[in-house]
Amino acid sequence: MSRLIVVSNRVPVPTAGEKAGGLAVVLHDLLARRGGLWFGWSGDIADNAEHDTAPAIVEEGGVQYATINLTPDEYQGYYANFSNATLWPLIHSLPEQISFDRHSLHVYRTVNARFATTLKDMIRPGDVVWIHDYHLVPLAAALRTRGVQVPIGFFLHTPFPSPDILSTIPEAATFLRQLMQADLVGFQTSHDAQNFVACVERLAGGETAGNNVVTCGGRTVHVGAFPVEIDAPGFARTAAEESDTTAIRRFSESLLGSTLMIGADRMDPTKGIRRRINGYRSFLDKHPEWQERVTFLQVAASSRQDVEIYKSLREELERLSGALNAELAMPAWTPLRFVTRPVARAHLAGIMRTARVGLVTPLRDGMNLVAKEYVAAQDGDDPGVLVLSRYAGAAAQLKDALLVNAFDGDEVADAIHRALSMAREERRRRWEANWHVISSRTPLMWGESFLDALLQARGSGAA
Ligand code: G6P
Repeated sequence: MSRLIVVSNRVPVPTAGEKAGGLAVVLHDLLARRGGLWFGWSGDIADNAEHDTAPAIVEEGGVQYATINLTPDEYQGYYANFSNATLWPLIHSLPEQISFDRHSLHVYRTVNARFATTLKDMIRPGDVVWIHDYHLVPLAAALRTRGVQVPIGFFLHTPFPSPDILSTIPEAATFLRQLMQADLVGFQTSHDAQNFVACVERLAGGETAGNNVVTCGGRTVHVGAFPVEIDAPGFARTAAEESDTTAIRRFSESLLGSTLMIGADRMDPTKGIRRRINGYRSFLDKHPEWQERVTFLQVAASSRQDVEIYKSLREELERLSGALNAELAMPAWTPLRFVTRPVARAHLAGIMRTARVGLVTPLRDGMNLVAKEYVAAQDGDDPGVLVLSRYAGAAAQLKDALLVNAFDGDEVADAIHRALSMAREERRRRWEANWHVISSRTPLMWGESFLDALLQARGSGAA
Protein backbone atom coordinates (compact mmCIF):
# COMPACT_ATOMS: atom_id res chain seq x y z
CA MET A 1 0.00 0.00 0.00
CA SER A 2 1.33 3.46 -0.86
CA ARG A 3 2.41 5.75 1.93
CA LEU A 4 -0.11 8.56 2.36
CA ILE A 5 0.75 12.23 2.69
CA VAL A 6 -2.11 14.44 3.86
CA VAL A 7 -1.72 18.20 3.45
CA SER A 8 -4.09 20.71 5.03
CA ASN A 9 -3.88 24.24 6.37
CA ARG A 10 -4.30 23.14 9.97
CA VAL A 11 -2.71 19.95 11.30
CA PRO A 12 -4.38 18.43 14.36
CA VAL A 13 -1.16 17.22 15.98
CA PRO A 14 -2.19 14.77 18.72
CA THR A 15 -1.47 16.17 22.16
CA ALA A 16 -1.48 14.23 25.42
CA GLY A 17 -4.93 14.00 26.96
CA GLU A 18 -6.75 15.53 24.00
CA LYS A 19 -8.67 13.53 21.43
CA ALA A 20 -9.25 14.84 17.95
CA GLY A 21 -12.85 14.94 16.79
CA GLY A 22 -14.69 14.77 13.49
CA LEU A 23 -12.94 14.26 10.23
CA ALA A 24 -9.47 14.49 11.77
CA VAL A 25 -10.04 11.06 13.33
CA VAL A 26 -10.53 9.33 10.02
CA LEU A 27 -7.50 10.98 8.45
CA HIS A 28 -5.44 9.88 11.47
CA ASP A 29 -6.81 6.33 10.94
CA LEU A 30 -5.99 6.32 7.24
CA LEU A 31 -2.49 7.56 7.97
CA ALA A 32 -1.98 5.00 10.72
CA ARG A 33 -3.06 2.15 8.38
CA ARG A 34 -0.77 3.16 5.56
CA GLY A 35 1.99 4.82 7.49
CA GLY A 36 2.30 8.41 6.53
CA LEU A 37 2.76 12.05 7.06
CA TRP A 38 0.41 14.97 7.76
CA PHE A 39 1.84 18.30 6.71
CA GLY A 40 0.66 21.89 7.17
CA TRP A 41 0.63 25.01 9.32
CA SER A 42 1.36 24.63 13.03
CA GLY A 43 -1.27 27.22 13.97
CA ASP A 44 1.57 29.41 15.36
CA ILE A 45 2.80 32.76 14.12
CA ALA A 46 6.50 33.57 14.36
CA ASP A 47 8.62 36.48 13.10
CA ASN A 48 11.08 35.35 10.42
CA ALA A 49 9.32 31.98 9.99
CA GLU A 50 9.82 32.29 6.23
CA HIS A 51 13.52 31.50 6.76
CA ASP A 52 12.84 28.22 8.58
CA THR A 53 14.00 25.47 6.28
CA ALA A 54 12.87 22.39 8.20
CA PRO A 55 9.42 21.64 9.59
CA ALA A 56 8.83 20.63 13.22
CA ILE A 57 8.12 16.90 13.36
CA VAL A 58 6.13 14.96 15.94
CA GLU A 59 5.71 11.20 15.67
CA GLU A 60 2.71 9.44 17.12
CA GLY A 61 1.26 5.98 16.43
CA GLY A 62 3.41 5.44 13.35
CA VAL A 63 2.34 8.76 11.82
CA GLN A 64 4.52 11.81 11.36
CA TYR A 65 3.06 15.30 11.86
CA ALA A 66 5.20 17.93 10.16
CA THR A 67 4.34 21.59 10.63
CA ILE A 68 5.70 25.01 9.76
CA ASN A 69 4.95 28.41 11.31
CA LEU A 70 3.66 31.45 9.44
CA THR A 71 5.01 34.98 9.73
CA PRO A 72 2.54 37.70 10.81
CA ASP A 73 2.41 38.95 7.20
CA GLU A 74 1.81 35.43 5.86
CA TYR A 75 -0.94 34.82 8.42
CA GLN A 76 -2.66 38.03 7.38
CA GLY A 77 -2.23 37.72 3.61
CA TYR A 78 -2.59 33.96 3.12
CA TYR A 79 -4.97 32.91 5.90
CA ALA A 80 -7.03 35.90 7.08
CA ASN A 81 -7.26 37.83 3.81
CA PHE A 82 -7.00 35.65 0.74
CA SER A 83 -8.27 32.33 2.12
CA ASN A 84 -11.02 33.67 4.35
CA ALA A 85 -11.97 37.13 3.06
CA THR A 86 -11.63 36.34 -0.68
CA LEU A 87 -11.90 32.62 -1.40
CA TRP A 88 -14.33 31.67 1.37
CA PRO A 89 -17.19 34.03 0.35
CA LEU A 90 -16.37 33.36 -3.32
CA ILE A 91 -16.75 29.58 -3.12
CA HIS A 92 -19.90 30.01 -1.03
CA SER A 93 -21.39 32.16 -3.79
CA LEU A 94 -21.61 35.30 -1.65
CA PRO A 95 -19.72 37.71 -3.95
CA GLU A 96 -20.99 40.81 -2.12
CA GLN A 97 -18.95 39.73 0.90
CA ILE A 98 -15.66 39.29 -0.99
CA SER A 99 -12.77 41.60 -0.36
CA PHE A 100 -9.76 41.30 -2.59
CA ASP A 101 -6.27 42.76 -2.79
CA ARG A 102 -3.37 41.75 -4.96
CA HIS A 103 -0.80 41.80 -2.17
CA SER A 104 -2.75 39.10 -0.29
CA LEU A 105 -3.03 37.02 -3.47
CA HIS A 106 0.74 37.30 -3.81
CA VAL A 107 1.26 36.20 -0.19
CA TYR A 108 -1.19 33.31 -0.67
CA ARG A 109 0.87 32.06 -3.60
CA THR A 110 4.13 32.56 -1.70
CA VAL A 111 2.91 30.49 1.23
CA ASN A 112 1.73 27.72 -1.11
CA ALA A 113 5.15 27.80 -2.77
CA ARG A 114 6.81 27.55 0.65
CA PHE A 115 4.58 24.59 1.55
CA ALA A 116 5.68 22.94 -1.72
CA THR A 117 9.39 23.60 -1.18
CA THR A 118 9.30 22.13 2.33
CA LEU A 119 7.06 19.20 1.46
CA LYS A 120 8.90 18.19 -1.73
CA ASP A 121 11.91 16.91 0.24
CA MET A 122 9.69 14.63 2.32
CA ILE A 123 7.93 12.95 -0.63
CA ARG A 124 9.31 9.57 -1.76
CA PRO A 125 8.55 7.60 -4.92
CA GLY A 126 5.46 5.44 -4.34
CA ASP A 127 3.78 8.00 -2.03
CA VAL A 128 0.31 9.40 -2.62
CA VAL A 129 -0.42 13.03 -1.80
CA TRP A 130 -3.88 14.16 -0.67
CA ILE A 131 -4.38 17.95 -0.46
CA HIS A 132 -7.35 19.39 1.46
CA ASP A 133 -9.31 22.56 0.99
CA TYR A 134 -9.29 26.06 -0.42
CA HIS A 135 -6.20 27.33 1.38
CA LEU A 136 -4.10 25.13 -0.89
CA VAL A 137 -5.50 25.57 -4.41
CA PRO A 138 -2.08 26.29 -6.01
CA LEU A 139 -0.23 23.54 -4.12
CA ALA A 140 -0.52 20.68 -6.63
CA ALA A 141 0.90 22.95 -9.36
CA ALA A 142 3.66 24.20 -7.05
CA LEU A 143 4.65 20.58 -6.31
CA ARG A 144 4.66 19.62 -9.99
CA THR A 145 6.89 22.61 -10.82
CA ARG A 146 9.34 21.25 -8.25
CA GLY A 147 9.43 17.89 -9.99
CA VAL A 148 6.96 15.91 -7.85
CA GLN A 149 5.47 13.15 -10.01
CA VAL A 150 3.55 10.97 -7.54
CA PRO A 151 -0.29 10.87 -7.66
CA ILE A 152 -1.89 13.99 -6.18
CA GLY A 153 -5.53 14.25 -5.14
CA PHE A 154 -7.30 17.45 -4.14
CA PHE A 155 -10.51 17.47 -2.07
CA LEU A 156 -12.56 20.60 -1.48
CA HIS A 157 -14.58 20.52 1.75
CA THR A 158 -16.62 23.55 0.72
CA PRO A 159 -18.95 24.16 -2.24
CA PHE A 160 -17.59 25.08 -5.68
CA PRO A 161 -19.25 28.05 -7.42
CA SER A 162 -20.67 28.47 -10.92
CA PRO A 163 -18.57 30.12 -13.68
CA ASP A 164 -20.40 33.46 -13.27
CA ILE A 165 -19.40 33.64 -9.62
CA LEU A 166 -15.86 32.29 -10.01
CA SER A 167 -15.13 34.80 -12.77
CA THR A 168 -15.63 37.70 -10.33
CA ILE A 169 -12.07 37.32 -9.07
CA PRO A 170 -9.04 38.11 -11.20
CA GLU A 171 -7.08 35.18 -12.59
CA ALA A 172 -9.86 32.65 -12.06
CA ALA A 173 -8.47 30.61 -14.98
CA THR A 174 -5.08 30.36 -13.25
CA PHE A 175 -6.70 28.79 -10.17
CA LEU A 176 -8.47 26.25 -12.37
CA ARG A 177 -5.27 25.33 -14.20
CA GLN A 178 -3.48 24.95 -10.87
CA LEU A 179 -6.16 22.54 -9.63
CA MET A 180 -5.78 20.63 -12.90
CA GLN A 181 -2.27 19.63 -11.82
CA ALA A 182 -3.89 17.14 -9.45
CA ASP A 183 -4.95 13.75 -10.87
CA LEU A 184 -8.29 13.71 -9.06
CA VAL A 185 -10.30 16.71 -7.89
CA GLY A 186 -13.03 15.72 -5.42
CA PHE A 187 -16.08 17.60 -4.14
CA GLN A 188 -18.85 17.06 -1.61
CA THR A 189 -21.67 16.82 -4.16
CA SER A 190 -22.11 16.15 -7.86
CA HIS A 191 -23.49 19.68 -8.18
CA ASP A 192 -20.10 21.08 -7.06
CA ALA A 193 -18.29 18.71 -9.43
CA GLN A 194 -20.48 19.91 -12.32
CA ASN A 195 -19.76 23.54 -11.42
CA PHE A 196 -16.04 22.80 -11.54
CA VAL A 197 -16.28 21.16 -14.96
CA ALA A 198 -18.40 24.07 -16.24
CA CYS A 199 -15.76 26.53 -14.95
CA VAL A 200 -12.92 24.62 -16.63
CA GLU A 201 -14.87 24.64 -19.90
CA ARG A 202 -16.02 28.23 -19.82
CA LEU A 203 -13.17 30.03 -18.11
CA ALA A 204 -10.08 27.95 -18.88
CA GLY A 205 -10.82 26.55 -22.35
CA GLY A 206 -11.07 22.92 -21.19
CA GLU A 207 -13.30 20.13 -22.47
CA THR A 208 -15.12 17.20 -20.93
CA ALA A 209 -13.69 13.90 -22.10
CA GLY A 210 -16.26 11.35 -20.96
CA ASN A 211 -17.79 10.66 -17.61
CA ASN A 212 -16.13 12.62 -14.81
CA VAL A 213 -13.06 13.41 -16.86
CA VAL A 214 -12.00 16.85 -18.03
CA THR A 215 -9.05 17.92 -20.14
CA CYS A 216 -7.36 21.30 -20.25
CA GLY A 217 -3.96 22.47 -21.46
CA GLY A 218 -2.70 18.93 -22.06
CA ARG A 219 -3.86 17.65 -18.65
CA THR A 220 -6.50 14.99 -18.11
CA VAL A 221 -8.11 15.12 -14.69
CA HIS A 222 -10.75 13.02 -12.99
CA VAL A 223 -13.52 14.76 -11.09
CA GLY A 224 -15.92 13.20 -8.58
CA ALA A 225 -18.30 13.63 -5.67
CA PHE A 226 -17.24 12.16 -2.32
CA PRO A 227 -19.71 13.29 0.38
CA VAL A 228 -18.06 13.46 3.78
CA GLU A 229 -19.63 11.13 6.33
CA ILE A 230 -19.78 10.95 10.13
CA ASP A 231 -19.45 8.00 12.48
CA ALA A 232 -23.22 7.91 13.02
CA PRO A 233 -23.40 4.97 15.49
CA GLY A 234 -20.49 6.47 17.48
CA PHE A 235 -22.16 9.87 17.67
CA ALA A 236 -25.48 8.23 18.59
CA ARG A 237 -23.77 6.40 21.45
CA THR A 238 -22.14 9.56 22.75
CA ALA A 239 -25.45 11.44 22.60
CA ALA A 240 -27.33 8.68 24.42
CA GLU A 241 -24.67 8.31 27.14
CA GLU A 242 -24.33 12.03 27.63
CA SER A 243 -28.07 12.64 27.84
CA ASP A 244 -28.01 10.52 30.96
CA THR A 245 -25.61 12.82 32.82
CA THR A 246 -26.36 15.32 35.57
CA ALA A 247 -25.15 18.15 33.32
CA ILE A 248 -27.77 17.41 30.67
CA ARG A 249 -30.49 16.77 33.23
CA ARG A 250 -29.77 20.15 34.79
CA PHE A 251 -29.79 21.74 31.35
CA SER A 252 -33.19 20.18 30.55
CA GLU A 253 -34.61 21.35 33.87
CA SER A 254 -33.45 24.89 33.07
CA LEU A 255 -35.87 24.92 30.10
CA LEU A 256 -38.79 24.90 32.55
CA GLY A 257 -40.85 22.59 30.38
CA SER A 258 -40.42 24.47 27.10
CA THR A 259 -39.58 22.61 23.89
CA LEU A 260 -35.97 22.94 22.71
CA MET A 261 -34.78 23.89 19.24
CA ILE A 262 -31.08 23.91 18.50
CA GLY A 263 -28.73 25.52 16.00
CA ALA A 264 -24.99 24.80 16.25
CA ASP A 265 -22.49 26.45 13.93
CA ARG A 266 -19.21 28.22 13.66
CA MET A 267 -20.10 31.90 13.68
CA ASP A 268 -19.77 32.36 9.95
CA PRO A 269 -21.60 34.53 7.40
CA THR A 270 -22.38 31.44 5.29
CA LYS A 271 -24.31 29.74 8.07
CA GLY A 272 -27.40 31.91 7.76
CA ILE A 273 -27.62 32.62 11.50
CA ARG A 274 -28.98 36.13 11.09
CA ARG A 275 -31.78 34.99 8.77
CA ARG A 276 -32.42 32.01 11.05
CA ILE A 277 -32.94 34.27 14.08
CA ASN A 278 -35.20 36.49 12.00
CA GLY A 279 -37.12 33.40 10.84
CA TYR A 280 -37.55 32.37 14.48
CA ARG A 281 -38.74 35.87 15.27
CA SER A 282 -41.40 35.75 12.55
CA PHE A 283 -42.45 32.30 13.76
CA LEU A 284 -43.04 33.72 17.26
CA ASP A 285 -44.98 36.63 15.77
CA LYS A 286 -47.13 34.40 13.55
CA HIS A 287 -47.72 31.79 16.26
CA PRO A 288 -47.86 33.61 19.59
CA GLU A 289 -49.31 30.46 21.19
CA TRP A 290 -45.73 29.11 21.08
CA GLN A 291 -44.35 31.98 23.17
CA GLU A 292 -43.12 30.68 26.52
CA ARG A 293 -43.42 27.13 25.14
CA VAL A 294 -40.28 27.02 23.01
CA THR A 295 -36.61 27.86 23.62
CA PHE A 296 -34.12 28.29 20.80
CA LEU A 297 -30.51 27.56 21.74
CA GLN A 298 -28.13 28.91 19.09
CA VAL A 299 -24.53 27.88 19.65
CA ALA A 300 -22.42 30.14 17.42
CA ALA A 301 -18.80 29.33 18.17
CA SER A 302 -16.65 32.39 17.68
CA SER A 303 -14.47 32.04 14.56
CA ARG A 304 -11.90 33.94 12.43
CA GLN A 305 -12.19 37.16 14.41
CA ASP A 306 -9.21 38.67 12.50
CA VAL A 307 -11.40 38.86 9.41
CA GLU A 308 -13.62 41.94 9.08
CA ILE A 309 -16.81 40.18 7.88
CA TYR A 310 -16.60 37.84 10.87
CA LYS A 311 -16.10 40.69 13.34
CA SER A 312 -19.06 42.62 11.99
CA LEU A 313 -21.20 39.47 11.92
CA ARG A 314 -20.47 38.93 15.58
CA GLU A 315 -21.51 42.47 16.46
CA GLU A 316 -24.66 42.15 14.39
CA LEU A 317 -25.69 38.84 15.96
CA GLU A 318 -25.03 40.12 19.46
CA ARG A 319 -27.32 43.07 18.72
CA LEU A 320 -29.98 40.93 17.08
CA SER A 321 -30.14 38.27 19.78
CA GLY A 322 -30.12 40.93 22.52
CA ALA A 323 -32.95 42.81 20.80
CA LEU A 324 -35.08 39.69 20.39
CA ASN A 325 -34.76 38.81 24.06
CA ALA A 326 -35.18 42.40 25.20
CA GLU A 327 -38.45 42.55 23.35
CA LEU A 328 -39.97 39.15 24.02
CA ALA A 329 -38.44 37.64 27.15
CA MET A 330 -40.53 37.10 30.28
CA PRO A 331 -39.35 36.58 33.83
CA ALA A 332 -39.46 32.81 33.31
CA TRP A 333 -38.80 32.63 29.54
CA THR A 334 -35.75 33.45 27.46
CA PRO A 335 -36.79 32.86 23.83
CA LEU A 336 -33.22 32.73 22.51
CA ARG A 337 -30.10 31.48 24.25
CA PHE A 338 -27.14 32.71 22.26
CA VAL A 339 -23.86 30.99 23.13
CA THR A 340 -20.54 31.96 21.55
CA ARG A 341 -18.23 30.13 23.94
CA PRO A 342 -17.04 26.67 22.90
CA VAL A 343 -19.29 23.78 23.95
CA ALA A 344 -17.68 20.34 24.41
CA ARG A 345 -18.57 17.96 21.60
CA ALA A 346 -20.08 15.26 23.83
CA HIS A 347 -22.14 17.79 25.79
CA LEU A 348 -23.47 19.23 22.54
CA ALA A 349 -24.37 15.71 21.36
CA GLY A 350 -26.37 15.22 24.57
CA ILE A 351 -28.15 18.56 24.10
CA MET A 352 -28.95 17.70 20.47
CA ARG A 353 -30.68 14.54 21.64
CA THR A 354 -33.02 16.57 23.82
CA ALA A 355 -33.85 19.07 21.05
CA ARG A 356 -37.17 18.53 19.27
CA VAL A 357 -36.00 20.58 16.26
CA GLY A 358 -32.55 20.95 14.68
CA LEU A 359 -32.26 24.15 12.63
CA VAL A 360 -29.52 23.86 10.01
CA THR A 361 -30.10 26.70 7.57
CA PRO A 362 -26.84 27.78 5.91
CA LEU A 363 -27.03 30.09 2.89
CA ARG A 364 -24.51 27.74 1.30
CA ASP A 365 -22.51 24.87 2.77
CA GLY A 366 -20.21 22.20 1.36
CA MET A 367 -21.80 19.41 3.41
CA ASN A 368 -22.73 20.49 6.96
CA LEU A 369 -21.90 17.71 9.36
CA VAL A 370 -24.10 19.21 12.11
CA ALA A 371 -27.12 18.15 10.04
CA LYS A 372 -25.89 14.54 10.09
CA GLU A 373 -24.93 14.77 13.77
CA TYR A 374 -28.37 16.05 14.71
CA VAL A 375 -29.98 13.04 13.02
CA ALA A 376 -27.50 10.66 14.67
CA ALA A 377 -28.13 12.15 18.12
CA GLN A 378 -31.88 11.43 18.10
CA ASP A 379 -33.73 8.77 20.05
CA GLY A 380 -35.22 6.79 17.15
CA ASP A 381 -38.33 6.02 19.14
CA ASP A 382 -39.25 9.65 19.66
CA PRO A 383 -36.98 11.62 17.33
CA GLY A 384 -36.75 15.34 16.64
CA VAL A 385 -37.12 16.97 13.24
CA LEU A 386 -34.31 18.34 11.10
CA VAL A 387 -35.04 21.59 9.28
CA LEU A 388 -32.37 21.77 6.59
CA SER A 389 -31.37 24.34 4.00
CA ARG A 390 -31.55 23.21 0.37
CA TYR A 391 -28.21 24.98 -0.05
CA ALA A 392 -26.32 22.60 2.23
CA GLY A 393 -24.57 19.67 0.55
CA ALA A 394 -26.25 17.45 3.15
CA ALA A 395 -29.63 18.16 1.51
CA ALA A 396 -28.62 15.92 -1.40
CA GLN A 397 -28.51 13.00 1.05
CA LEU A 398 -30.95 13.88 3.88
CA LYS A 399 -33.98 14.11 1.64
CA ASP A 400 -36.41 13.39 4.48
CA ALA A 401 -35.53 16.50 6.43
CA LEU A 402 -37.87 19.49 6.11
CA LEU A 403 -35.98 21.18 3.28
CA VAL A 404 -36.21 24.98 3.18
CA ASN A 405 -35.00 27.99 1.26
CA ALA A 406 -32.78 29.51 3.94
CA PHE A 407 -33.08 32.97 2.34
CA ASP A 408 -36.85 33.00 2.84
CA GLY A 409 -37.68 33.91 6.45
CA ASP A 410 -41.37 33.01 6.00
CA GLU A 411 -40.51 29.56 4.77
CA VAL A 412 -38.15 29.03 7.73
CA ALA A 413 -40.87 30.25 10.12
CA ASP A 414 -43.42 27.85 8.59
CA ALA A 415 -40.97 24.93 8.75
CA ILE A 416 -40.33 25.63 12.44
CA HIS A 417 -44.05 25.53 13.07
CA ARG A 418 -44.47 22.34 11.09
CA ALA A 419 -41.54 20.67 12.86
CA LEU A 420 -42.77 21.63 16.33
CA SER A 421 -46.27 20.36 15.55
CA MET A 422 -45.28 17.16 13.73
CA ALA A 423 -46.90 13.92 14.89
CA ARG A 424 -44.61 11.22 16.21
CA GLU A 425 -45.38 8.83 13.35
CA GLU A 426 -44.18 11.28 10.71
CA ARG A 427 -41.16 12.21 12.82
CA ARG A 428 -40.22 8.55 13.01
CA ARG A 429 -40.69 7.91 9.32
CA ARG A 430 -38.55 10.88 8.36
CA TRP A 431 -35.88 10.11 10.93
CA GLU A 432 -35.63 6.44 9.91
CA ALA A 433 -35.06 7.36 6.28
CA ASN A 434 -32.34 9.88 7.20
CA TRP A 435 -30.74 7.52 9.73
CA HIS A 436 -30.58 4.82 7.06
CA VAL A 437 -28.60 7.20 4.83
CA ILE A 438 -26.07 8.26 7.44
CA SER A 439 -25.63 4.89 9.12
CA SER A 440 -24.92 3.01 5.90
CA ARG A 441 -21.72 4.98 5.21
CA THR A 442 -18.65 5.65 7.34
CA PRO A 443 -15.90 8.28 7.27
CA LEU A 444 -13.43 5.52 6.48
CA MET A 445 -15.44 4.57 3.39
CA TRP A 446 -15.27 8.20 2.33
CA GLY A 447 -11.48 8.30 2.69
CA GLU A 448 -10.87 4.92 1.06
CA SER A 449 -13.16 5.68 -1.87
CA PHE A 450 -11.33 8.94 -2.56
CA LEU A 451 -7.94 7.22 -2.44
CA ASP A 452 -9.14 4.32 -4.63
CA ALA A 453 -10.47 6.80 -7.19
CA LEU A 454 -7.17 8.67 -7.09
CA LEU A 455 -5.14 5.56 -7.84
CA GLN A 456 -7.59 4.55 -10.55
CA ALA A 457 -7.43 8.02 -12.11
CA ARG A 458 -3.68 7.75 -12.20
CA GLY A 459 -3.81 4.18 -13.53
CA SER A 460 -6.11 5.19 -16.36
CA GLY A 461 -3.59 7.62 -17.68
CA ALA A 462 -4.41 10.95 -16.03
CA ALA A 463 -1.04 12.61 -15.63
C1 G6P B 1 -14.19 24.81 7.45
C2 G6P B 1 -13.07 24.57 6.46
C3 G6P B 1 -11.87 23.94 7.15
C4 G6P B 1 -11.49 24.78 8.36
C5 G6P B 1 -12.67 24.92 9.31
C6 G6P B 1 -12.37 25.80 10.55
O1 G6P B 1 -14.75 23.60 7.83
O2 G6P B 1 -13.52 23.76 5.38
O3 G6P B 1 -10.78 23.87 6.25
O4 G6P B 1 -10.39 24.21 9.04
O5 G6P B 1 -13.73 25.51 8.60
O6 G6P B 1 -11.93 27.06 10.17
P1 G6P B 1 -10.50 27.66 10.58
O7 G6P B 1 -10.33 28.89 9.75
O8 G6P B 1 -10.59 27.94 12.04
O9 G6P B 1 -9.47 26.61 10.27
